[in-house]
Amino acid sequence: MRNILVTNALPYANGPIHMGHLLGYIQADIWVRAMRAMGHNVTYVCADDAHGTAIMLRAEANGISAEQQIANVQKEHIRDFDGFNVLFDHYDSTHSHENKARSEEIYIKNREAGNIAIRPVTQLFDPEKGMFLSDRFIKGTCPKCKAEDQYGDACEVCATTYNATELLNPRSTLSGATPIEKSSDHYFFKLPNFAEYLQKWTRDEGRLPVSIANKLDEWFEAGLADWDISRDAPYFGFEIPDAPNKYFYVWVDAPIGYMSSFENYIKTKRPDLSFNDYWEKDSKNEVYHFIGKDIVYFHALFWPAMLEGANYRTPTGLFVNGFLTVNGQKMSKSRGTFIKAETYLQHLNPEYLRYYFASKLSDKVEDSDLNLEDFVQKVNSDLVGKVVNIASRCAKFINTNYDNKLSVTCAEPQLVQSFIDAGDSIAKAYEAREFSTAVREIMALADKANQYIDEKKPWALAKIEGEEQHVHDVCSVGINLFRQLAIYLAPVLPVLATQVQDFLKLESFDFESRKHVLIHHEIALFQPLMQRVDPKAVTAMVEASKESLKATATPVTTEKTKVKNINKKAEPKIGDADIIGIEDFIKVDLRVAKILNASIVEGSDKLLQLTLDAGETETRNVFSGIREFYQPEDLQGKLVVFVANLAPRKMRFGISNGMVLAAGNGEGVWVISPETGAKPGDKVS
Ligand code: MSP
Ligand code: ZN
Repeated sequence: MRNILVTNALPYANGPIHMGHLLGYIQADIWVRAMRAMGHNVTYVCADDAHGTAIMLRAEANGISAEQQIANVQKEHIRDFDGFNVLFDHYDSTHSHENKARSEEIYIKNREAGNIAIRPVTQLFDPEKGMFLSDRFIKGTCPKCKAEDQYGDACEVCATTYNATELLNPRSTLSGATPIEKSSDHYFFKLPNFAEYLQKWTRDEGRLPVSIANKLDEWFEAGLADWDISRDAPYFGFEIPDAPNKYFYVWVDAPIGYMSSFENYIKTKRPDLSFNDYWEKDSKNEVYHFIGKDIVYFHALFWPAMLEGANYRTPTGLFVNGFLTVNGQKMSKSRGTFIKAETYLQHLNPEYLRYYFASKLSDKVEDSDLNLEDFVQKVNSDLVGKVVNIASRCAKFINTNYDNKLSVTCAEPQLVQSFIDAGDSIAKAYEAREFSTAVREIMALADKANQYIDEKKPWALAKIEGEEQHVHDVCSVGINLFRQLAIYLAPVLPVLATQVQDFLKLESFDFESRKHVLIHHEIALFQPLMQRVDPKAVTAMVEASKESLKATATPVTTEKTKVKNINKKAEPKIGDADIIGIEDFIKVDLRVAKILNASIVEGSDKLLQLTLDAGETETRNVFSGIREFYQPEDLQGKLVVFVANLAPRKMRFGISNGMVLAAGNGEGVWVISPETGAKPGDKVS
């Protein structure tokens, strides 16, 4: 058994948790649950990153104190993580006594070791606000191309980088005042003292993804520079010891928050654990930080250097996730793809997202895409169509015909054993953070289980006299196979796992427990486990994301108005969609078609299957989500308009080759027809 401390990056206390954040939090939570299921002793902590100028200004805009601001946001963050079952053992804040003490200690130890320097720095200063301005609070005219309204670090028009002091006509974005140049003493962490140490550290086995280590080599070659760790007052943070009015830059005390959150966990909940066992220099326990790729620099350079300089152990490894895109693009407020955790939870089951992310994640630092159509499709076909289906097909026989008891023998010992054996490789995949591999292997087993049931057809056997034992045996095997799958999926789907554990009346659901086959075992009454994703809920979530952002666009909003506006699910208004040019519109090949046949799709209460005469040599097959609104016979012979050049989409029931247009307003749906006279194949424009 290994002793492992796991952390997630500490989210800033100035904004809500969104889908992008969740990628890394769900990844870590799955890993923690998997490692525990394998019998390891894992502690999992996090905290809000509470300091810095952004948070100070956000509080000011909200008309509240910084303390109140971070307390409000912390409550929301904890609520959101709970909502997704990201289950930290402890969730703290970097604005704590323990973190202050630990930051001071680490600083002083580094100072004593000769790793701190002091020298003056000239910066732009806002005389009205009475504060130094970082680059993003200064705008002016680009010194090179003369473009107006450029930030203090780089020109977005000609891409030149410069110092803020070089901007023409600079102004403070905070007050509008013209900044003046002013000098003050800054405190520096002498990173070059650790150049050799870090070059070796980053190449240690397992410390970092190789792609990241390679990237760091470029930085080493360019040479490390001293790191400015002080900010002048006013600043929301911790004052630097023996340096009145100088504060630690937020990135100093942020990672130290990993330590102090763990310390507070011990203090408040686990006095049996020892801080030093995990953090002293030669500790054999393991420490892993899950972080996003944008914050590698801080975690792979400054953080180990600060720890080394203060004589603490450094992390065993950094696990780095790529960035999340939604529908192939950066999350966008106007498209409604900047989806907050809270908004998601108002519309959809968190387990769907956990599964979808798991199916995408590997140990590589690759960006992942949340494609909302694929999301619906994958969850419905894998989880509902394959996994849950096994239980619902078998359980009712056990419940009603066999007094809730499984057979006294296992009719397919080899098949069940093959499922048990597969667990070793699935466990390995989890441990290596190859979740997509784990999911693929689990789904291959689910296919096998369904195949078995399809072959045996218990529902048909049940109608034949004398086959009672056979039905009992087949369903008992089915339940055993299902239980294996549920155990393997448990790190990803903790809620489903708990439901299944109750349904199967099992005391343990850890990986080892699977090896004991269920024979003559009593189960509970089967309850439906997971609903299909309703694509309408996805659309509503996207719409609500547009709404909620409009409501919060102005900086001064109270928490109350935010919640109220999110709850209001408005229909999209004309003009809400992104503006497209004619060149985009003409790419859509709209054609007239005649519906030759419409039929109900077995297993779907949303879809109708349409056979279209589109004036082509062959007919087209299209699935259309209009079953609730049309009887198949009403559509026969009808002329419709459809998108002819839509990429074919693989659905659970077959391939859909095109899309029929319809009007809708959330209450009804009306298929769009041309006037009579139009013929199949005619172009619509
Ligand atoms: N406060 C710092 C971390 C300090 S750790 C000592 C921070 N906060 S953050 O709120 O901006 O981000 C929190 C985590 O979410 C980081 O790991 C960051 O990389 C990650 N992500 C933020 N947006 C993301 C995506 N769009 N996609 C994937 N991860 C993203 O950074
Ligand atoms: Zn320019």
